[in-house]
Amino acid sequence: MTRRPVRDRFSLPPFPSGWFSLAGSGELAPGQVRPLHRFGQDLVLFRTRSGQARVLDAACPHLGAHLGIGGAVEGNTIECPFHGWRFDGAGRCVYAPLARSLPRASLRSWPVEEVNGRILVWHHPEGAEPDWHVPQFPEYGNPDWLPFQQAQHWEMRTHCQELGENAMDAAHFPHIHRQQTAAMETRGLEIDGAHLTHRTWQTLAFFGLLKKIYGDVAGPLDCTLHGLGLVVNRAQVRTKIDMAYCYPFYITPIDDERIDVVSMLSVRRFAVPGLARALLYKARAEGRKTIEQDIPIWEHKQFRPRPRLSDADGPIPAFRSWSAQFYPEAVAAAQRSHDGGRRLEALSPDPARARV
Ligand SMILES: [Fe+2]
Repeated sequence: MTRRPVRDRFSLPPFPSGWFSLAGSGELAPGQVRPLHRFGQDLVLFRTRSGQARVLDAACPHLGAHLGIGGAVEGNTIECPFHGWRFDGAGRCVYAPLARSLPRASLRSWPVEEVNGRILVWHHPEGAEPDWHVPQFPEYGNPDWLPFQQAQHWEMRTHCQELGENAMDAAHFPHIHRQQTAAMETRGLEIDGAHLTHRTWQTLAFFGLLKKIYGDVAGPLDCTLHGLGLVVNRAQVRTKIDMAYCYPFYITPIDDERIDVVSMLSVRRFAVPGLARALLYKARAEGRKTIEQDIPIWEHKQFRPRPRLSDADGPIPAFRSWSAQFYPEAVAAAQRSHDGGRRLEALSPDPARARV
């Protein structure tokens, strides 16, 4: 069977606004340069000698060389491999060898923030500046928690909104994810601007050894979304030992066909040495299995703007209404169009709530 391209299956713009991960902070030392292709564009990521991560459009405004292919960090600038022009973090040309006067040339500079050990870039389809931020996780740098480590890295042929919707989709858990023995139960939905938390209760048959001892285990699972580029799953499993994990998923569009997904994982420490690490290893294996059960669905599904939902479904309509704020160009086009209602419905089943 041939797979239809994502743009034919999803009536959503491929690149929403928000913060998206480009790399782990520890993966980019001062002086390092990385070519990247994200949001359908060629970018260069580099770290200045003074330690700032910077993202610029990759093509030199002079004669178009890719700054990430052979370019080098010089002080706090990046030097083009072709003629040695140098650009600062704001994208301004600050040096051009041989030229008697400085060329009036610049590159687009993308807003960058580093938080929770990741380098995040701000993407906005209309070029607006950031108006919200990803908060520091309470678990990050917390001595009661193991340091976050990368759990998985995938490239998937689906739309970046799918991972957020997955965290709302209570009824798919016991069916496709048989580690869960009952539907995830919604206990609350909190929306604060670009941040959304779905508070749930899950019943798990996750942990083989624990199950042998205690039977099925249950506990709260909070899924917090910071825009569409970051889904943070926080779970507690309460048995004789109280286990807690924090499992963030970073989702970044590569082009209109593929997304890059990196998951990180931390587990709260126990008094017993080594137990947290053993549980982290187990949670990571279960996490991989869970997502890999979803991938074939995501890679072939047709996005239904007006899904036929049942009373067993989680807060998918509320999630879609919330997510419409990240497609400002589509919302604006719909508001301009005489067919605005229908266009907005492609983003959200509840157009009134989409006008954010
Ligand atoms: Fe899933």
